[in-house]
Amino acid sequence: MNEVREWTVPGRVNLIGEHLDYNGGAVLPIAIDRGLLIKVRMRDDGVVNIWSGGRKASFGVDIAPGEIGDWARYAAAAVWASRQAEIPVPGADIVIESTLPPGAGLSSSAALTCGLAAALDDFADTALSRLQLARIGQRAESDFVGAPVGLMDQLAVLCGESGNAVHIDFADPDSPALASVPATWSDHGLVLAVIDTGVTHALASGEYAARRRECDEAAGRLGLTALARAQVDAVLRLEDDILKRRTRHVVTESARVRGTVKALGAGEWKQFGAMLSSSHESLRDDFEVSCPELDVAVEEAIEAGAVGARMTGGGFGGSAIALIGSGDVEALRTRVEARYTRLGWKPPQVFTVAPVAGAARRT
Ligand code: GLA
Repeated sequence: MNEVREWTVPGRVNLIGEHLDYNGGAVLPIAIDRGLLIKVRMRDDGVVNIWSGGRKASFGVDIAPGEIGDWARYAAAAVWASRQAEIPVPGADIVIESTLPPGAGLSSSAALTCGLAAALDDFADTALSRLQLARIGQRAESDFVGAPVGLMDQLAVLCGESGNAVHIDFADPDSPALASVPATWSDHGLVLAVIDTGVTHALASGEYAARRRECDEAAGRLGLTALARAQVDAVLRLEDDILKRRTRHVVTESARVRGTVKALGAGEWKQFGAMLSSSHESLRDDFEVSCPELDVAVEEAIEAGAVGARMTGGGFGGSAIALIGSGDVEALRTRVEARYTRLGWKPPQVFTVAPVAGAARRT
């Protein structure tokens, strides 16, 4: 019972393919070199204690949805969903250390739920697959926390690869197909900068659920099982303006994922950058999930010389990413800080990220 096992679990940045995972499309995330260190020791008294950032919380292993509302709810959700998946959990002491800024939209919640599921599975010798662990993380968020997320973030933090992006095709939702795509921009003087806006708008979760409903509605009207199956002419066949625009985002974003895979393979950085920037426009104008803080971050990145930039993740706050020359990152930071300050906003955090391996046991 005294053995402590440690897990490193990365966060993620999605390069492109936003809001496609729950539409049966393909996405292209990287696991990033910022994440969580999770230390776990089993207990046999049915109690879970968790320490993180100077705070401590405790709950019983039989905790159910609705019984905990504070910061520890993601850990409780992971314990609940792990037990639902028949991983025995006799009790645990859990310590979390993080290099992921909270609320930055870099999947700290998926890192926590999937990392804990992986650790509990490891202690119990249940030997679940990475896909099964990802589904535990997804269930924790959707059925316990109440956020109806797709499966991209969980697979990204579990299946990331050093030096590669992971192409995840959700065409068959029961069996997502994973493939590596080389991410070699750093060999060509470029870096991927993250601009963490520091804001999460209150409407993020409600609007996410609304987008899912709109996409399902559009697919239904087109007679499709998933909106990513739509062809370009689908936009013309829909009468409702909102559903037209949501569909146009899904169709054009799917094409941009294909274009980005080609561009990355060929080292066509300008092409990759152009895809990033047009993805942002589509998310801003057609899918309507951006916000002023993200738009300003993208504008300033381009002004600072970025090859391309876009919001990443669900939207309504969180982070933008920019593909930019390594020598231009300081200019980006200065510009975006100055513009945020002029607008009366708290300056954002700017840092670079690189693709790393997914969750792994360290000791
Ligand atoms: C959030 C969700 C993901 C995905 C993205 C948008 O990160 O957790 O499942 O839908 O938004 O691409």
